[in-house]
Amino acid sequence: MTVPIGIHDIALATGHYAMDLAELARHNGADVNKYYIGLGQTSQTVPAPDEDIVTLAAAAAKQIVARHGVEGIRTILFATESGIDQSKSAAVYVQDLIGLPAASRAVELKQACYGGTSALQLAVGIVARDPEQRVLVIASDIAKYDLDSGGESTQGGAAVAMLVAANPNLAVVDETVGLYTANVQDFWRPNYRSTPLVDGKLSVSAYLEAVEQAWKDYEGRGGRGVSEFAGFCYHQPFTKMAHKAHTRLLELKGIEATAARLHADLSPTTIYNRAIGNSYTASLFVGFTSLLDHSDDLDGRSVALFSYGSGCVAELFSVTMVPGYRAHLRTADNRAAIARREPISYEKYRALRDFTLPEDGSELVVSARSRSPFRLTAISGHSRIYAAAHAQ
Ligand code: CAA
Repeated sequence: MTVPIGIHDIALATGHYAMDLAELARHNGADVNKYYIGLGQTSQTVPAPDEDIVTLAAAAAKQIVARHGVEGIRTILFATESGIDQSKSAAVYVQDLIGLPAASRAVELKQACYGGTSALQLAVGIVARDPEQRVLVIASDIAKYDLDSGGESTQGGAAVAMLVAANPNLAVVDETVGLYTANVQDFWRPNYRSTPLVDGKLSVSAYLEAVEQAWKDYEGRGGRGVSEFAGFCYHQPFTKMAHKAHTRLLELKGIEATAARLHADLSPTTIYNRAIGNSYTASLFVGFTSLLDHSDDLDGRSVALFSYGSGCVAELFSVTMVPGYRAHLRTADNRAAIARREPISYEKYRALRDFTLPEDGSELVVSARSRSPFRLTAISGHSRIYAAAHAQ
């Protein structure tokens, strides 16, 4: 790499509603502390009927374009595992909604929750080949499990958009990475299902095995030592998973994983995820955003990121924070996006889950419900119709 390449800007969007997990506990009789303490989750984002992965993605990407314009963007990489179409990329809708150049490639990437990291690394490669270009990377997902299943407490939804560029304002993506792929059937969603199949316990152990193997690969390739990192971000299906993962890493290195150590290393990265819930491809980057918004100055310091996508592919990589990065954060906007969600009861959540889009070609006008700058307005001729809020 001749010029430093990395994350020039990062923006977050989440859905309209939030259900406190006390509501889920009221419905299913669980002790709420199983969720608050055992899983480390207080609430989960629930999208409105006029929101989906495209509207969330466009809401995140719009903030990037408003600040930096579209010049130099020739690639839009959209990572998701809750895709809305088996053929057409969700990136094409975003290109149209936010007015990105027609002279661009707009594609969707998939490997469960790992897709966002693959998009980021591919973007770095594109910019390395031509440092004049900037790549818009979007990770957007709505995590939805079967009703009354074990996974229901780990739902949520969010999108994170990142502008990847040479000489970035925020963070340089470091070259050394650790990789791990293994064929594991821990979580998957066949084409005919709208919710995934999951072996919860296997998924946790597969994730932890991936932490160990990716770290070993990273170390073997000359990566930094644990003590050289100022922060650790993990993919967070639920925030307690980050504790389990970091414990595994520390123990691997012969370091005692005390409660104080885990709190010090992880707490800033879990604040947003604790409220949003799982956001699959976006989750790691929600955690990174939370770290940036809740840390002391990380100027010049390195942060380790661990990405896990069931099935499974994992990557341990790192970024080095650019001095002065704090002037470019969106802390107030990010906090507001989470705080302004409308609290809902379990009954309201259930009614939202009962709402489904037609699959038989019939027409549907979707009522305006969310405050999102972009809405799903209709289903017509088997197509999703979107509009910017100002255009309605
Ligand atoms: N007070 C405090 N803690 C309590 C408690 C109480 N009253 N009751 C239970 N707990 C604790 C349990 O001891 C347990 O903690 P440990 O794991 O540290 O032992 C924790 O709460 C959860 O309890 P259970 O294991 O009994 O919960 P569960 O049977 O509902 O399963 C789950 C949890 C497997 C995560 C389930 O929610 C699930 O299947 N989720 C979807 C899959 C998932 O998120 N997997 C994560 C790894 S895969 C991945 O990362 C990819 C992805 O995004 C999907």
